[in-house]
Amino acid sequence: MRCVALIVAAGRGERLGGDLPKQFLPLLGRPMLRRTIERFLGHPSVDAVRVVIDGRHEELYRTATAGLALLEPVAGGASRQESVRLGLESLVELAPGQVLIHDAARPLASAALVERVASMLRTADAALPALPVVDTLKRAEGARTAGDVPRDGLWRAQTPQGFRFAAILAAHRAQAGGAFTDDAAVAAAAGIEVSLVEGEEDNMKITHPADLARAERLLGGGQR
Ligand code: CTP
Ligand code: MG
Repeated sequence: MRCVALIVAAGRGERLGGDLPKQFLPLLGRPMLRRTIERFLGHPSVDAVRVVIDGRHEELYRTATAGLALLEPVAGGASRQESVRLGLESLVELAPGQVLIHDAARPLASAALVERVASMLRTADAALPALPVVDTLKRAEGARTAGDVPRDGLWRAQTPQGFRFAAILAAHRAQAGGAFTDDAAVAAAAGIEVSLVEGEEDNMKITHPADLARAERLLGGGQR
């Protein structure tokens, strides 16, 4: 197997709240997780898709993914980092050359973005989609400003992030129990060089309730 997409969907969506974890909420009539998966399934650079879920959400997962040709889901852990590590461990028997690790909470990644990451990976050890920070950054103490932070050289990291499978598995094993919020950070801590590719403004992460309406506007506005 050449390239597997590993989608982490084992979170609880606490900042968004509501009755269902956010990845199972409908976005213009289809569950967010299903929309996310569809960005990878059938993509020419992706050979298979595995989703990491919370075992308690198995029924929600089956309903959301009905009819899709996926690898069997695996159970995640208490943190995103742990969920990714468990997902990587589950892929050992498939021995993919490369893995694209993606958040279920980013249902708008385009096929072109997936291709940019996959194609960077043909020459680089790791590929990270990111956008430069354009706003002026402030440090605050309570409700008052307490200085500016230079934005030069600062980027906003997105997913999918691409890696050589054996290298990112070893990195996650070595950094297990850490507090990393993305896999590029795990990779960097293990000495892997991470190359930037251009991210996408529309590839937003759905985090807060207002993000749902924005995502639906973006989905409704294009040929998606
Ligand atoms: N995730 C995961 N396992 C965890 C925590 C998060 O697989 N233990 C996944 C989420 O499902 C999501 C992605 O990691 O697709 C990014 O995490 P985030 O946006 O923080 O989602 P949640 O952790 O679900 O949301 P919150 O932090 O608001 O509870
Ligand atoms: Mg979280």
